[in-house]
Order: sequence, then C-alpha cells, then structure tokens
Amino acid sequence: MSTEIQFVGSRPPQEGITPPLLSVNDISVFFGPVQVLDGVNLAVWPGERVCILGSNGSGKSTTLKAIAGLVKPKSGTVSLGTERIDTLDPSQVVRRHLSLVPQGRRVFYDQTVEANLLLGAHTRKDKGGIKADIEGVCQRFPRLGERRKQLAGSLSGGEQQMLSIGRSLMARPNFMMLDEPSLGLSPVAIQDLFRGLAQLSAEGMTMLVVEQLASHALNLADRGYVLDQGRVVAMGTVEELRSSGAVMEAYLGKASG
Ligand SMILES: Nc1ncnc2c1ncn2[C@@H]1O[C@H](COP(=O)(O)OP(=O)(O)O)[C@@H](O)[C@H]1O
Ligand SMILES: [Mg+2]
Repeated sequence: MSTEIQFVGSRPPQEGITPPLLSVNDISVFFGPVQVLDGVNLAVWPGERVCILGSNGSGKSTTLKAIAGLVKPKSGTVSLGTERIDTLDPSQVVRRHLSLVPQGRRVFYDQTVEANLLLGAHTRKDKGGIKADIEGVCQRFPRLGERRKQLAGSLSGGEQQMLSIGRSLMARPNFMMLDEPSLGLSPVAIQDLFRGLAQLSAEGMTMLVVEQLASHALNLADRGYVLDQGRVVAMGTVEELRSSGAVMEAYLGKASG
C-alpha cells in the first residue's frame, strides 16, 4: 500500500526548527492479519492543538492507542521528546505526563465522582498533591464539585465527559489526547466542553484531538491530519483543511464548517 499524502497544505511551521514533543514515525498496526494503520506519520509541537479527522473505522482511535502504549505497532516508532515510548507500558506513558481521554468516556458508573477522580491518580503517591488536584478539578468543573459524592452513573453525558477529562488531569498531563470527546453530547454540552478544552490549551496544555465530525475539532485546533483507511491522506492548517472541498468530500462526508 502507498503511504503518499494526497493533499498537503502547509507543513508544520516548527518543522526543522524545533524538535516536536510527540513524533509518530511510520507506524503500522495489525489486528491479527488485518492491517489497520499503514505507515502513519504525525508530529505535535509543545503547546499545539492538533486534530486527527477521519470517518468511522479510519484508524483514529488505534493511532491514539498506539501513542498511549495500549496497542503495539508492528513497525515504526513513537517518541516523546527524544525518548522512544512505543516500547513502554501504558502506565509508564502516563507517568511521562501524556494522557488519553478514551472514546466513550469510560467512567465507572457505580462509583462516586470523587472515586473516579482518584482512579486517575493511580500512578501517583503524593497524597497531599492528589487531594489538592481533586479540589482543582472541582473548581475547574464546578458541576463536578457540586456532585462529587454522587455516583458517576447519575451524571449527564456532558458531565461524564468532564469527569473523564478531570480523571485524566489527575495524572498531571502536559499533553492530552482526546478521542471523540463530543460524541453523543448535546449542542450545549459540546459548547461547554470545547470552552473547557480551549481554557486548558490557554494554560499551556498540548492537545491531540480526534473527531469524526470535522467542525468542532476544527474550531479548536491549529493544524490537522486526515486519516483514511489507516493512512494519512491530508494534512495542513485548519484553514487549509476547511477550505479544501476535496478533502471534506472525500474523507469527511459532507463539507462542514
Ligand atoms: N481490537 C481490535 N481488533 C480487531 N480490529 C480492530 C480492533 N480495534 C479496531 N479494529 C478495526 O480497526 C479499524 C480502525 O478502527 P479504529 O481505530 O477504532 O477507527 P476509528 O477510531 O477511526 O473509528 C476498524 O476497521 C476496526 O474495526
Ligand atoms: Mg474511534
């Protein structure tokens, strides 16, 4: 299979000038005999907001899982700074302050908001810091603060997504990956969510966000990659991607803004 990029907008402005924080180099992933990623390359620089777009089944979640150490590439490498991380366990990746907010939120319904947050700190031992960070998350997302003794199963979809992000923050990431965070949320909850993400970004968080529908991710991101059948088929600034009718039509369904 060819790994040629069909549409290239601008290359990342930092390329060749400063080293990326994350580099995914030519990774291929197989599930049994089925090849799901075919030579995926992407890079994210500190402080950037990058999106990965693509239709259902194009390999977006697998890409994030490979970066998080949950799936092992058959070939290629993933590096954080100068360190190779594709050889590490997921918990070792989390300790390097890179965290994944998984698709479908995956909060524990039968546990309280607070207990769910504590689970996000399982790689840490600093009790005082953990307590302070729970307070921090509750201040950031006041609705979680008000409901901290409630079971997560009683929260709305938007609140569960906040909890999932809050749990991820408990590992003190400086780099967050979010897999379809807006899926299944109401328009108001989506607005809230992306406001929260913009705030995190303004505080210096580096972000890699996966979305099936282009519009919300394009409002948040600086740059993006488009995946199709396990290959990067397009990359560019969000303006370039948005204005490329061919990209929108071919890979993302109807043009969306
Ligand atoms: N654990 C798995 N075992 C077998 N096939 C899988 C597994 N996970 C994903 N796939 C397949 O890999 C392809 C890409 O999946 P995924 O990365 O979840 O796509 P996306 O997130 O873009 O919707 C799909 O065809 C999917 O069915
Ligand atoms: Mg997915």
